[in-house]
Amino acid sequence: MTENISLSLNNLTVDYPGYKGSGTTAVKDVSFTIDKGKVLGLVGESGAGKTSIARAITRQLVEPGEVTAGKILFENKDIVTMPQKELKNYLGSQISLIVPNPKSELDPLLTIGRQLGDIVKTHLKLNNREAREAVLKVLESVQIPDHRSRYSAYPHELSGGMAQRVIIAMSLICNPKFVISDDATSGLDVTVQREIMKLMQNIIKEKNLSVLFITRDIGLAAHFCDHLGLLFRGQIVEIAPIKSFFRNPIHPYSLALLSAFSHSVKWRKVYSTEPQKWSKEFFVNGNVPDKMIEVEKGHLVRMIR
Ligand SMILES: Nc1ncnc2c1ncn2[C@@H]1O[C@H](COP(=O)(O)OP(=O)(O)O)[C@@H](O)[C@H]1O
Ligand SMILES: [Mg+2]
Repeated sequence: MTENISLSLNNLTVDYPGYKGSGTTAVKDVSFTIDKGKVLGLVGESGAGKTSIARAITRQLVEPGEVTAGKILFENKDIVTMPQKELKNYLGSQISLIVPNPKSELDPLLTIGRQLGDIVKTHLKLNNREAREAVLKVLESVQIPDHRSRYSAYPHELSGGMAQRVIIAMSLICNPKFVISDDATSGLDVTVQREIMKLMQNIIKEKNLSVLFITRDIGLAAHFCDHLGLLFRGQIVEIAPIKSFFRNPIHPYSLALLSAFSHSVKWRKVYSTEPQKWSKEFFVNGNVPDKMIEVEKGHLVRMIR
């Protein structure tokens, strides 16, 4: 059973102590598992705690953020307590993070080829010639046109979409098993966003990656996730296999998001015609405690007060 799991969060809590006097709990008691080759979409509004989860997984929480409870198991090893030395084998190679604002992630003084090359030299111990080949190959795989000449380009010479492709290339170059995409396409215009999504979708399939796909846009998540989790004020309020989520959304916040989401014909068909009734019965008549309840197989919901 467990050998099928890529990553699991067990009751993760992230605090920013001292912020606004008493401190903020940005992530509270969050649990989920992502199977190998599967994509979990994590949706939530700004400030819900999405980036804190992403950065807890990669041990890159911004000060004073810290994991105060829970475990993050990657291939059965806890990232939270992993010694720094061992961590290096995982981060940047087996687990990688794709962020928005690609230009702030790239060093303006170094060529694309050099930046990507340095990564494989460090992590995979490749020599100069091997590194150059690996870089050209990955640039081609993210469909950068004229990738040979882009190898010697500097970040400022790239458009936003091109820079995002470079960031994706960067996250893939060491052949990771697990990729986190944190709002990666949010800064791009819609057409470019669609192209990048399509590219990511193809790569995920081809490489059989396990993915945590973070976004504010439930429509975007719906397009290529196997499971969907909804984060609300640091807590998962509903999580389910994607079809179950759309067919039978229960939490009022899920209903609100889904009713605003109408542009997909595919999901309109799956989406139940009377979800409100179901939800009302559940919350008004049911005695819902403040913990996760399984309402269908793998479909969990919790009321937060
Ligand atoms: N550097 C920080 N210092 C203090 N509090 C922070 C910091 N970063 C995030 N937080 C707190 O954590 C909450 C969740 O933030 P974040 O994880 O960035 O959410 P999201 O990515 O969903 O927008 C914020 O509302 C804020 O209260
Ligand atoms: Mg964020």
